[in-house]
Amino acid sequence: MATARLIFDTLLPVGEVNRRVFGSFVEHLGRSVYDGIYEPGHPTADERGFRTDVVELVKGLGVSAIRYPGGNFVSGFRWEDSVGPVADRPTRLDLAWHSTETNEVGLHEFSSWLETVGSELMLAVNLGTRGTLEALDLLEYSNLGGGSALAERRAANGHPAPFDVRMWCLGNEMDGPWQLGHRSADDYGKLAAQTARAMRAFDPELELVVCGSSSAHMPTFGEWERVVLTHSYDDVDYISCHAYYEEKDGDLGSFLASAVDMDSFIESVVATIDHVKAVKGSDHVVNISFDEWNVWYNERFEKVDKITGVDNWPVAPRLLEDAYTVADAVVVGNLLISLLRRADRVTSASLAQLVNVIAPIMTEPGGIAWKQTTYFPFALTSALATGSTVTTRIESDSYDTAAYGRVPLVDAVTTHDAATGRTSIFVVNRSRGDEVMLEFPLDGLGAVTDASAQTLSDADPYAVNTLQEPTRVGVAPNETLRVSEDGGSIVLPPVSWTVITLQSAAG
Ligand code: AHR
Repeated sequence: MATARLIFDTLLPVGEVNRRVFGSFVEHLGRSVYDGIYEPGHPTADERGFRTDVVELVKGLGVSAIRYPGGNFVSGFRWEDSVGPVADRPTRLDLAWHSTETNEVGLHEFSSWLETVGSELMLAVNLGTRGTLEALDLLEYSNLGGGSALAERRAANGHPAPFDVRMWCLGNEMDGPWQLGHRSADDYGKLAAQTARAMRAFDPELELVVCGSSSAHMPTFGEWERVVLTHSYDDVDYISCHAYYEEKDGDLGSFLASAVDMDSFIESVVATIDHVKAVKGSDHVVNISFDEWNVWYNERFEKVDKITGVDNWPVAPRLLEDAYTVADAVVVGNLLISLLRRADRVTSASLAQLVNVIAPIMTEPGGIAWKQTTYFPFALTSALATGSTVTTRIESDSYDTAAYGRVPLVDAVTTHDAATGRTSIFVVNRSRGDEVMLEFPLDGLGAVTDASAQTLSDADPYAVNTLQEPTRVGVAPNETLRVSEDGGSIVLPPVSWTVITLQSAAG
């Protein structure tokens, strides 16, 4: 058995955990909305057509803000199509996903669904094929109490109170050649700054997210952030990061170490933000909104699922419906560890996506909804990572990967909530074959009155939950946890994700 030692210090906080880190993303893509959250006629559908079984799963996931309506979709979207009487709404082509958008669900319906699930709306504006004026119109329609044609239109459409959207994304992945309206960093930076200033003329308190890179492996990565922030630094609050990971060529070892890439992505963007801040002599702090992250078998989408043909524009096709394995869930848990590790600078994040499309929740039309493997680390981290991330050090064996060189077998982060006295340790064992005995001193915690641990693992790292077998994989209590005055220990199975919670006196 391999060994590892974890040391945390509750007196050395890194940063407060912002609830917005547990955000998600609903795009008009595939069966995310239609036949996902919305399926009139489903036995569990409410009077609005929303599946209440899905609502319960979303609530259980503990999702804070939800980014909407895209994604690549937003760069061809006319928001006006999605409001007003449903019968009058136009059907449009969605060029991003080669699909048909009926506009049956739009801003009002989605906002009403968000109230039911208890999540905040994070809206993206189209800066791909549209511009500042349309963004301002959407802002006025959404957030002005009354007294203008757009505010009155919202009221006439059934919502007299403003939606009061606080978080706004200034476009989506504008660095990507696939994006409708893709621009250079210089052109996008100017447009984003101009739009941000115009939106702030309406409400200076809005929280604005400027587009960073679609991945740390884009050829423009680094320079994109520098140029875009040079134009927009004092006008925005966040720069976005997007990252998707997948196991390639059967290299499970590299895949399990995906968080190494996310760590380095975050560090590079923080350094670039702070460089621009220094050059400008600004007091303003820009943070990271990691508003698309997940495991995504993109290669399969590109080679097998991609829709083509000028006469082929399906409504709500099955797209990006990855079935997630135990290994995928361990990677997702590890990516959450990375996000929490920099709680001081990553203050917003969105798991992409929520239902059916690269999602923790799957649905069958007319049938059941179920939890994918990735549901468990997200739900438990959202529930248990409260208070602040605290300084955490790991000493563990390491292994060689083709993608990232030598990496530690064990990765972890600790949060401590002084108000409740709860300490949570989130930890992964990346070993493909070995259990790890993890030991951790409890100095500084005082008497631990309660301790428990839950682990996600399986003899088969490729086990999945499916329509036929929806509860094959889950989390189970880890009975190997030992806690005494001398410290704690636990055995971590190979390819596993674990959360340990320790209760001590508050304050
Ligand atoms: O989440 C799926 C897609 O991934 C989004 O539409 C896009 O922003 C990203 O490339």
